[in-house]
Amino acid sequence: MYTKPKGTNDILPNEIYKWHILEKLLKNICRLYNFKEIRTPIFEMSDTIHRNNVDSSDMVSKETYDFLDRSGRKLTLRPEGTCSVCRSYVENKMYVSGIQKLYYIGPMFRYERPQKGRFRQFHQFGLEILGSGSYICDFEVILMCITIFKKIGLNGLRVRINNLGDINSREKYKKDLLNYLEDKIDCLCSDCKERINKNPLRILDCKIDSKNDILTNCPQITNYLSEKDLLDYSNLKDLLNKFNICFIEDPYLVRGLDYYNNTVFEIEYTDSSFGSQNVLCAGGRYNNLISELNGPKTECFGCAFGIERIIDAIELEDPCFFKTDRLDCFIATLSDKAFSYSLNLVNILREKNITCEFNYEVLSLKNVFSKTDKLMPRYIIFIGEDEINSNTISIKDLDLKKTINLTYDLGVKYILGGLHENIN
Ligand code: HAM
Repeated sequence: MYTKPKGTNDILPNEIYKWHILEKLLKNICRLYNFKEIRTPIFEMSDTIHRNNVDSSDMVSKETYDFLDRSGRKLTLRPEGTCSVCRSYVENKMYVSGIQKLYYIGPMFRYERPQKGRFRQFHQFGLEILGSGSYICDFEVILMCITIFKKIGLNGLRVRINNLGDINSREKYKKDLLNYLEDKIDCLCSDCKERINKNPLRILDCKIDSKNDILTNCPQITNYLSEKDLLDYSNLKDLLNKFNICFIEDPYLVRGLDYYNNTVFEIEYTDSSFGSQNVLCAGGRYNNLISELNGPKTECFGCAFGIERIIDAIELEDPCFFKTDRLDCFIATLSDKAFSYSLNLVNILREKNITCEFNYEVLSLKNVFSKTDKLMPRYIIFIGEDEINSNTISIKDLDLKKTINLTYDLGVKYILGGLHENIN
């Protein structure tokens, strides 16, 4: 049997409606917050993602799908959306039009060890504001995330925030951290030993050593912030408090990507049965990425949600959240002569936005019911010779458990009325 690649998923027809419902809800919130959609290719020139190894994060250095095309060009499947959005922003000179508020939904690719909630192809919904360094912009994105979680009815969330400072304060901090760790590194895990040279800050959010006294007593980045950064950070926290957004300050939150500065945040789903991959949404400020991509200095803030994780969390919290994509009508044609009459009805109903299915070959009553047992429509409409001769349709209302025979026009009105009641 041919099988899908490890770490990927087929989203089957009986699941996809959940994606449609969630995507519609997300797009509607984007409209309210005035974010516009951007669609970039799912692969980029490798240089865009790797940028001469400027980004030393595991994700960019070890987990990308890199390949050569038939002309020998080095390409990379995008591991996340931010870098592609920034490349597009620079390439299309979007900076000339002022602040850009952009969103995207699409597949991302990372060569990670697959497990529950972690895949090699997964989907992100991302938000990016390009062109503002204001803490109010950080606030708007975090507020929007909370609005989204409220709309989808998720409780039990933990918002963690930190401030990584600007390049100057981070360099000072890195120096002190390295001094502090110099004679202690042997007591940390092998990953940390590797990180000490490449990216010592990542030691702070090491999952293995998180409870180790060496890390819990190490210097904290927030003590190295400039006056302006401290003030912005405190203003952001004030705003979050004023809007009743609960958060935890976590000085060890550094995030997996190297492009961040100042505010970073993660939103976790804390239900204990959810599994370890519980970060549903994460992001932060990245004021240097656009210049790394040869664009003008542009301050940016953004975040991304893992769609698979969001759907899992919603289903755990409220199994009825996603109402099934129920078929409105099954039109059962009971005689050869009735097909053109049925097709006419199917057309009229579909024009009125009513979902319809019908049979291509004449069905016996028994076969109609075995079909509709699977399809579960709201209405079965029977069209046989009697109906043609009397210009009527017979409607079995499966919710109200009754069958009625009405003239063609009244029948259509009856169906529309019943479905309308359901919508309201
Ligand atoms: P990230 O933390 O790498 O950030 O990913 C964001 C979210 O994508 C995660 O919180 C998680 O929900 C989901 N995710 C990540 N990896 C996987 C995976 N292997 N399988 C399933 N879901 C996954 C970014 O990607 C940044 N670009 C976010 C950002 C936007 N920062 C600024 N702007």
